[in-house]
Amino acid sequence: MKNDTVLNIEVEQIKASKIDQVDFDNLDFGKVFTDYMFVCDYSEGEWKKPEIVPYQPITIDPSAKVFHYGQAVFEGMKAYKDDNDDVWLFRPDENFRRINLSSQRLAIPEFPEEFFFEGLKTLLQLEKNWIQKGFGNSLYLRPFVIATEPGVSASPSSDYKFMIICSPAKAYYSGEVRVKIAEKFSRAADGGVGFAKAAGNYAAQFYPTSLANAQGYQQIIWTDASSHEYLEEAGTMNVFFRIGDKLLTSPNNDRILDGVTRKSVIALAEDAGIDVEVRRVSVKEVIEAAENDNLKEIFGSGTAAVINPISGFAFQDKKFELPKLEDSYAGYFKKTLMDIQYNNSEDKFGWRY
Ligand code: COI
Repeated sequence: MKNDTVLNIEVEQIKASKIDQVDFDNLDFGKVFTDYMFVCDYSEGEWKKPEIVPYQPITIDPSAKVFHYGQAVFEGMKAYKDDNDDVWLFRPDENFRRINLSSQRLAIPEFPEEFFFEGLKTLLQLEKNWIQKGFGNSLYLRPFVIATEPGVSASPSSDYKFMIICSPAKAYYSGEVRVKIAEKFSRAADGGVGFAKAAGNYAAQFYPTSLANAQGYQQIIWTDASSHEYLEEAGTMNVFFRIGDKLLTSPNNDRILDGVTRKSVIALAEDAGIDVEVRRVSVKEVIEAAENDNLKEIFGSGTAAVINPISGFAFQDKKFELPKLEDSYAGYFKKTLMDIQYNNSEDKFGWRY
């Protein structure tokens, strides 16, 4: 990972900060944006000089390919502030690697490493005041790439825009999260784009999720597209199941996002001596465990969601509530992860940046 790049990024200064208008105690996730944004354009076969400009609307031709063919990918990252006012990122090399993997799958040119890290560093120096101290407070960073070439022919764009926008954040989910296990709709298929952070993966979930919302469930746990027998991921989170003292989660494949928080939880579990199995988890075994009072926890992991306990779930006409445990794995992972993210503990894995 590059720590010492010296690419000076030009900054167009704001006239006045918006920060005084923000109620940091009442933030809806992803609604408020900071003063600046990072922008870098691609044309004639190369990424041009990046710049940081005041946060503002952008102008794009209505025929641009992003609007018609969804050629777009994104990332989710967070910046944290410690008690000494130092700012930290968590495993940003993983986000950098993944956005280029997603781009490759969507026929988007890879973004240069020095632009990514220098852009983040310059942006965070400018936006430092927008990062509130304290567990649970962060600055959510949204790098994304869109296809901007005008023209509706169905082929990869020749022009792109890479941007990073920043939004002060607290929890992603407020309140309890109940999930429905998918039986009909699918999120992703073998050979498809499920592993990528492709914009369309999220849009495709909105309709089935709205049906689940109407029945009182906040999310869907997606199952494999061919048999609907195996539990995969929850769309905004990877999912973990605790049966007895064993922790189970699905292996990565074409259909599942390679979550940074997911892989960190697996590493922390192994380090803590928790019996963790990365293998296919069937709907049947989870239902049986729930019926035998052996299903102790389900929780989701993700950058936005951090670690989110699932308080209940439904499959077909069966509904289950999960116990609230004092010594939950979810609580342990959340605390251990946040201690690392907020520079509150030793970083034995070298995850802080
Ligand atoms: C994240 O956790 O950062 C994500 O990208 C999920 C998003 C849909 C909020």
